[in-house]
Amino acid sequence: MKLHPLIKNVLYNFDQIEERTKELAKEISKYYDEQEDIQDNNVLLVGILKGCVPFMGVFLKYFDYNCETHYMVVSSYLGSTKSSGEPKILLDLNVSIKDKDILIVEDIIDSGITLKYVKEYLFFKGAKTVKIISFLDKKEGRKVELKPDWYCFDVKNEFVIGFGFDINEKLRNLPYVGVCDIEKLETWDWTLKKEDWDYS
Ligand code: IMP
Ligand code: MG
Repeated sequence: MKLHPLIKNVLYNFDQIEERTKELAKEISKYYDEQEDIQDNNVLLVGILKGCVPFMGVFLKYFDYNCETHYMVVSSYLGSTKSSGEPKILLDLNVSIKDKDILIVEDIIDSGITLKYVKEYLFFKGAKTVKIISFLDKKEGRKVELKPDWYCFDVKNEFVIGFGFDINEKLRNLPYVGVCDIEKLETWDWTLKKEDWDYS
């Protein structure tokens, strides 16, 4: 399989992602198994769309505790590679989370602003516990104090694409996560078919 030309280098391929996600899903299932006071012995997974989709798909395959899946759309990157720093809830939960145990499923924590906001919002709505699993952790990007309870991999302060991560809503469907070639991006023709891509 040829890599997408906008990928400078692959950080994690699908097999590595699946292996690590499986390991964490089992660890987190065990964590909830061991808690004495989980409301109705049921965890509400809250996936943060859209980036969580591929990761959450793999996570769900191996997460083995009673759960419901819910989603929110929270936007802080309005179509660019820089955060606007102002999270907005574009799609809210449609269930009550009063006294519920919540596990947020996120693609990446960068500045931490989005998840800090979401976490506070969920507590404000009455959640009993809020835990976070993030696929990636970009620690150097942190602007507010926020730590995931679990995460698969660390990444450096580079813009990543693939496996849920987009550049202008595109390339979320790559089966690997890699660093975006920002220089090539500037002149990239999105209308070209695969056979006409320049791999040089
Ligand atoms: P934060 O509020 O800065 O932590 O932003 C987190 C959100 O920014 C993530 O949910 C992603 O949607 C987006 N994001 C941060 N870094 C990247 C990246 O390298 N590639 C694509 N999206 C990113
Ligand atoms: Mg996101």
